[in-house]
Amino acid sequence: MKKLIKNNVHWVGKNDWELRQFHGYEYSTDRGSTYNSYLIKEEKNVLIDTVYQPFSSEFIANLATEIDLKKIDFIIANHAEPDHSGALPELMDIIPNTPIYCTQNALKSLKGHYHKDWNLKTIKTGDKLPIGNGKELVFIQAPMLHWPDSMFCYLTGDNILFSNDAFGQHFCSELLFNDLVDQHELFSEAIKYYANILTPFSRKVTTKINEIIGLNLPVDYICPSHGVIWRENPLQIVTKYAEWANNYQEHQITVIYDTMYNGTRSIAENIVKGINIEDNSINVKLYNAATNDKNEILTEIFKSKAILIGSPTVNNGIMYSIAGLAELVKGLKFKNKKAASFGCYGWHDVATKTIESMLREAGFEILSEPLSCKWEPDEEFIKKCIEFGKQFVVNLIEC
Ligand code: FEO
Repeated sequence: MKKLIKNNVHWVGKNDWELRQFHGYEYSTDRGSTYNSYLIKEEKNVLIDTVYQPFSSEFIANLATEIDLKKIDFIIANHAEPDHSGALPELMDIIPNTPIYCTQNALKSLKGHYHKDWNLKTIKTGDKLPIGNGKELVFIQAPMLHWPDSMFCYLTGDNILFSNDAFGQHFCSELLFNDLVDQHELFSEAIKYYANILTPFSRKVTTKINEIIGLNLPVDYICPSHGVIWRENPLQIVTKYAEWANNYQEHQITVIYDTMYNGTRSIAENIVKGINIEDNSINVKLYNAATNDKNEILTEIFKSKAILIGSPTVNNGIMYSIAGLAELVKGLKFKNKKAASFGCYGWHDVATKTIESMLREAGFEILSEPLSCKWEPDEEFIKKCIEFGKQFVVNLIEC
């Protein structure tokens, strides 16, 4: 079903209410997602992006009710990741000669994914494609936001920025526009998306935002490839991105642990107590990594000034949930954050040192020596945990 955005611009994508995991099992999508595809019907008919392959037939059948597919003059592939290019093979079987406009890197990734000899036309920033009625599409390369092949395009006359993944959210809604949905849900998904996907590319986000602002283009709509369209005050999400890209922090500390017999949990809870005693204005949050959603935890780390991670020593190493989380943390390249480690052990303390070294490798500044407890914490050790939490805050303020 198409939905009108403005004048001759329509949404023709797919709402995936059922989606619960994305990028394999790397990203939880509790509110589903959407694959946004856009159809512009001016003197020339243009299709911007498609949908994920499992919805290919449905997408093409719907599209065929909106336009004779053979009358599509141009296809724009803003990004070759399969959630946006997945319907191209089936579509190109029907309209094999239709030109697909994309970046040079997208040419490589489209060929790499599909091994087809499509009519690919490469563009560079500033290139323009007239589509009739005085309107044109202006292309803006956006490498590493979040793939080398990513690009935006801008529709003159209607003042619409098609930003692909940037400014998107894994958030399914039939309401289509930002002003119609629950704002808490929208911004929870927008920051989760930024934290989990765009954090490593923050410097490029800043550069790209400055470049777009420098173009001085009027922007009435920002149409991302996932989630709702920014219609009311569309630049509010650009302002948020500028803030998130600039070593974003809230007045927050996040404590994360895994535990076998609740010893490491007890340390975590008493560290939280100490943090609270020292400064109860800090929003301190506590997560068991084994029982909480990893992407929610990563979003909380993104929002934090500092984190503490704990695990008991097991098999001369650390627990599985903490090891997995540490790998994700390393990849996201958080900046300007502080950390420390803690945990229980029986006969050989390995976990706290392992976590500390993982945190250093991930770019965190270590504020305190690891807090290790042989066997279970007793009353004396509990006091030590509280003091550790208090001192961690003092160290954080001082540094
Ligand atoms: Fe939504 Fe990078 O694909």
